[in-house]
Amino acid sequence: MPQKTNLFVANWKMNMSFNTTCNFIAQNHEHLSALAMKCNGTIVLCPSFIALHTLTNFFQHTPIEIGAQNCSAHKNGAYTGEVDATSLHEIGCAYTIIGHSERRLYHGETDEMVVNKMEQLLGHAIQPIVCIGETKQQHEKQQTLAILATQVEPILQKIAEYHTLMHKYKNEITSSEQEFFYATIAYEPVWAIGTGMVPSLDHIKMVFDWLNAKSEQILPGLCRRLRFIYGGSVDEQNASQIMNINGLNGLLIGGASLDFQKFQNIVLSSHG
Ligand code: PGA
Repeated sequence: MPQKTNLFVANWKMNMSFNTTCNFIAQNHEHLSALAMKCNGTIVLCPSFIALHTLTNFFQHTPIEIGAQNCSAHKNGAYTGEVDATSLHEIGCAYTIIGHSERRLYHGETDEMVVNKMEQLLGHAIQPIVCIGETKQQHEKQQTLAILATQVEPILQKIAEYHTLMHKYKNEITSSEQEFFYATIAYEPVWAIGTGMVPSLDHIKMVFDWLNAKSEQILPGLCRRLRFIYGGSVDEQNASQIMNINGLNGLLIGGASLDFQKFQNIVLSSHG
């Protein structure tokens, strides 16, 4: 089945314990599957590592996809506490968020680490959801695009390398490959995350125009293999206006994804 272009990602962060996650799923799994069937995109649930395998098993034969919130930048070895992309692939995890600002801020995740994580994920056919975004101070100093450039350029260059490598070993593009997305770039202004503050629609539009143009410049003709989504205080009131912005293919939803009703309203209001 061709993949839907729009993506609605529920980032549950560390807000739900294992038991709370299981209870949430027990209460909402039928509604979630029904929502995934009727909405105009793919729904990705991102629980904590510990609940991942339970959820990939549970949703195996449904349209719901499961994603991790992080992965190791290393293939394997002596990295205590890390989780490798191989294991994520083995348990059926289809997506992984990397470079989230909370990981950059509290866990020292650098642009270089994000690129290495992406390389691990691409090698295991897991779609990376790469977060980029400027801080409030950078926003006020009008440094948004300069900051985004330093974060996104190495990502796009790595995808270009990966694309060349893939095509060296394949003579023809298969039909499933035509529907293939290399990665999702999530623009999440740091100052908008969990604060209730959302940039103006003009600002978001300017950033997505720039992101699409930058991607076309580094990956000519391959922009259709990327998704561009917005995250940061998405709620039932602002979702549909944000989704109407050209060149934007989905939403990364934190707080509002913890309440099924709110999440459903956001996804359904984004029919556009
Ligand atoms: P928020 O979080 O929707 O609660 O702002 C988004 C995110 O951090 O991914």
